Amino acid sequence: MSKVKYFELNDSFIDELVCFQNEFSKDLNENISNHFTLKKSQIFTLIACSRKSIIGFLIAQRIIDSFEINSFFISPSFRGMGVGEKLLGNFIKNSCEKKITSIYLEVMKSNKIAIKLYSKFKFLIYGSRKDYYEINGLKYDAILMKLILN
Ligand SMILES: CC(C)(COP(=O)(O)OP(=O)(O)OC[C@H]1O[C@@H](n2cnc3c(N)ncnc32)[C@H](O)[C@@H]1OP(=O)(O)O)[C@@H](O)C(=O)NCCC(=O)NCCS
Repeated sequence: MSKVKYFELNDSFIDELVCFQNEFSKDLNENISNHFTLKKSQIFTLIACSRKSIIGFLIAQRIIDSFEINSFFISPSFRGMGVGEKLLGNFIKNSCEKKITSIYLEVMKSNKIAIKLYSKFKFLIYGSRKDYYEINGLKYDAILMKLILN
């Protein structure tokens, strides 16, 4: 894999991010354009790029001194190569620099891969939501996780 760069989304990459998200809209199970209706100051997006193409992203919403991870996705052909871990690590580092004190997220209970990755960064489970996700008429439970930053 050629060198992967991790950086905050800038205006020149917005159209490409929208295309990337549209390409995987079925996997993402959400309307990503919702994020862009939020105020720019409330949203923080990190992208991973290889050969000037987006291969992954993490979108978080700022609520006072906390971040809520809204979306985190790596292109299927780049999974299992450490990109997600670097992107999440970069996000946590950025959060510390922004004096964020906690990061929250929801993840599908069955998403063992993501839960393992969050646990690696010391995110802790603090609750669950039954039937939180609905996909094609089926309901799935969510796990709530948080990371307290010093
Ligand atoms: C979850 C996701 C972001 C991980 O990204 P990735 O780039 O594939 O992950 P990495 O290669 O950086 O792996 C980091 C860690 O994740 C976990 N992991 C990754 N792939 C795994 C697999 N196939 N099986 C088990 N654990 C796995 C491991 O803890 C791994 O660390 P390790 O290699 O030291 O064991 C990616 O699989 C993805 O985009 N999934 C679909 C969207 C999603 O589920 N997002 C999270 C929603 S809350």
